[in-house]
Amino acid sequence: MRIDVLSIFPSYFDGLTLSLLGKAQSAGILDLRVRDLRDWTSDRHRTVDDTPYGGGAGMVMKPEPWGLALDELASAPSAEGRPPTIIFPSPAGEVFTQATARDLSTRDHLVFGCGRYEGIDERVFEYAATLGEVRLISLGDYVLNGGEVATMAMIEAIGRLIPGVVGNPESLVEESHEDGLLEYPSYTKPSVWRERPVPEVLLSGNHAVIASWRRDQQIERTRRRRRDLLPDDED
Ligand code: ADE
Repeated sequence: MRIDVLSIFPSYFDGLTLSLLGKAQSAGILDLRVRDLRDWTSDRHRTVDDTPYGGGAGMVMKPEPWGLALDELASAPSAEGRPPTIIFPSPAGEVFTQATARDLSTRDHLVFGCGRYEGIDERVFEYAATLGEVRLISLGDYVLNGGEVATMAMIEAIGRLIPGVVGNPESLVEESHEDGLLEYPSYTKPSVWRERPVPEVLLSGNHAVIASWRRDQQIERTRRRRRDLLPDDED
């Protein structure tokens, strides 16, 4: 998969060279390119923002650098002939979930546009929609200073679902949210630690009983912490 990131703070993304995603890049599974939006400005100050028409607080990102950057990074179809998916992180977007991550992990080419200030000139989204599928995506109901942290979270969630990125694909199946429930509790040695024993059932060696206990724990935890995830009849 190819991922392009447009940001005025490209060094935010240095962390993505670490760990599993770093290895995926070295192995050629993930082609991640982070670009400075200011490279598509032409004035001496490399200006990316201006005051809002109609007045109001803060600054708005100018459309011109975005247009030129998108022309360069997002106007060609992938080797498989598919247009890119262009994602703008925004607290005003659809909420990112594991299902979103699964869907986006099947694309050939993602372009993330990280906004700052009070946002990006609205015409940029309209123009981007002429080049590919545009998605405004929110990490949750809170406000960050810009799209960078949200983009990093999304790239990590999407990247680990690309085949070959996580060594043991089984570990993807038993995680929180993969089956709509929170994950069951895990324990390792020692069997008693600071007077706290590991639940007896896990030492039984009876796989069917363990599987059923884990399922019960998942449902119980989800009921306690995230009732909103349960279908109404399991409330
Ligand atoms: N930019 C600012 N806040 C955000 C959020 N909650 N999700 C995605 N992008 C954002």
